[in-house]
Amino acid sequence: MRSIGRLGILGAMEIEVITLRHLMDQPNVFTHAGKTFYEGKVEGQPVVLSKADVGKVNAAVTAQILIDQGKVDAIVFTGVAGALDPQLAIHDLIVATAAQYHDVDVTVFGYQPGQVPRMPTLFATDPELSLELVSACATAGVKNPHQGVILSGDTFIAEPQIRMKLFRRFSAVAVEMEGAAVAQTCYLNSIPFALLRAVSDCANGTAPDDFRSFSKKAAETAAEVIAILCRRMASTGQ
Ligand code: ADE
Repeated sequence: MRSIGRLGILGAMEIEVITLRHLMDQPNVFTHAGKTFYEGKVEGQPVVLSKADVGKVNAAVTAQILIDQGKVDAIVFTGVAGALDPQLAIHDLIVATAAQYHDVDVTVFGYQPGQVPRMPTLFATDPELSLELVSACATAGVKNPHQGVILSGDTFIAEPQIRMKLFRRFSAVAVEMEGAAVAQTCYLNSIPFALLRAVSDCANGTAPDDFRSFSKKAAETAAEVIAILCRRMASTGQ
């Protein structure tokens, strides 16, 4: 794969980044806008890692700091999501083909559902980085991770009717609360973006309980794939 000098790695919650932070030996730490950034190496790959906190604004702010102050060349987001597609099960891995907002609606002026004016409807993920994620999943023992559109919005979805509405309206596989905001930030800065999520719940009535039970293990699985990605980048990038 093409060489990426410094990889930005983002998660929203502590459980999504802790595995990777433990792999960093004596990182350089800086803070900005209440966010903490860890500069160093994961499996030999230079990275800057941060926890964005939950939601679109936190995600976009943290991504922009990663780009401006962390000087990263690409960003990969790791974490958990609620499944929309009934074919998905808890702990399944998803490599996003694109990220899209589900809570943006300017359709009265002719824009597509989810489309911010003057922005694309969907933010395509970087094909090469995404392919590397698929290969990293295989190395982790997951031969065929799901691939498809992942939705983002500032709501934890926990109702079967809303889940099915989103699934039908956007033909998306999963829903979370940050990916599209980071994708838009990378789009505006012309840097590659990739998005990996593990299913923690099915965005239905049992989603809050399922999230409590399964998000930690799901987040660890996704982070382990990112560590494999870093190892591959370090070995091919020199
Ligand atoms: N992240 C994990 N599960 C989610 C859900 N059901 N809705 C929104 N974000 C999530």
